[in-house]
Amino acid sequence: MRSFAGRDILSLKDFEREEFFRVFQVAQDLEPIARDRRNSDLLRHKTLVTAFYQPSTRTRLAHEAAMHRLGGHVTGFSDAKMTRAGDFYQESIKDTVKMLEFYGDVIVMRHFQQGAPHEAARWASIPVINGGDGWGEHPTQILTDLYTVLREKGRIDGLNWLAVGDMRMRTMHSLAYALTQFACPITFVAPPEMSLTSEFKQELQQYSLDFAEADHVEQAIGKADIILVEPVVQPDYTKSRDERSGAVSLTPANYKITRELLAAKAKPDAILLHSLPRMDEIPTDVDMTRWSRYWQEAFSGVVIRMALLALVLGAME
Ligand code: CP
Repeated sequence: MRSFAGRDILSLKDFEREEFFRVFQVAQDLEPIARDRRNSDLLRHKTLVTAFYQPSTRTRLAHEAAMHRLGGHVTGFSDAKMTRAGDFYQESIKDTVKMLEFYGDVIVMRHFQQGAPHEAARWASIPVINGGDGWGEHPTQILTDLYTVLREKGRIDGLNWLAVGDMRMRTMHSLAYALTQFACPITFVAPPEMSLTSEFKQELQQYSLDFAEADHVEQAIGKADIILVEPVVQPDYTKSRDERSGAVSLTPANYKITRELLAAKAKPDAILLHSLPRMDEIPTDVDMTRWSRYWQEAFSGVVIRMALLALVLGAME
């Protein structure tokens, strides 16, 4: 297995099966620190730089929390408008990361341009973690989701997935790439204008992903062990910021997971994931049902980032 020390985490396309399990093992080893709400000193001499060119609640703060849990330091920006990249100068990724690499030991970057973290990794002498790039990928979120599945189900192979939402979403791309490494059939349900592109489907076929598409969640929910939902009513991920103006549309029933639907059609031991934020695709009365696992997912988000930071910074091998 390739060493993680010094590695960029840009995509799950280039992740090997045993590398997933190595990340999950390290996460499991470090999980008691987060569960006990302790801080350790594993990364006490290291600093995380956050470079967020797009809004985030979870991804930035989970990386920061992970760094604090491991005794490290954090610097960076959460609003690129307050940097030279966001004013008159429109400073380039290259010039920005050629600075950031002296301010810390690892960079986590979120950007509205697909491939921006890859460009950063080209120039930075320290590891770059992709915190979501445009419609591209969101590898740390899907590692979080798979880890949640592993902890909840005790395995990943052999589970049936249902993915609902906008298939242009970066999480969906990372999910599809990740599942190529596992024996996990998946059904995608999306509005026609948000469905998987034919190029992406061809790529998934080349990787032997066992996938199907359906029009309505009702057609696929009954056989799903894992139901992963994303919004279909959402902002434009290629913009640095997309403000809400006026009323937003409601999620059609085809892409909505309600309490009634779960009770009528879902397996009793299926689990429901949503990386959040949500609109109305999972009504809040689902939160208290036995299917919901999104709060556990939020906890896993800190644990997985602890594992990734420890691995890329060489504190764990
Ligand atoms: N799931 C996720 O990426 O959330 P944020 O946009 O809040 O980081």
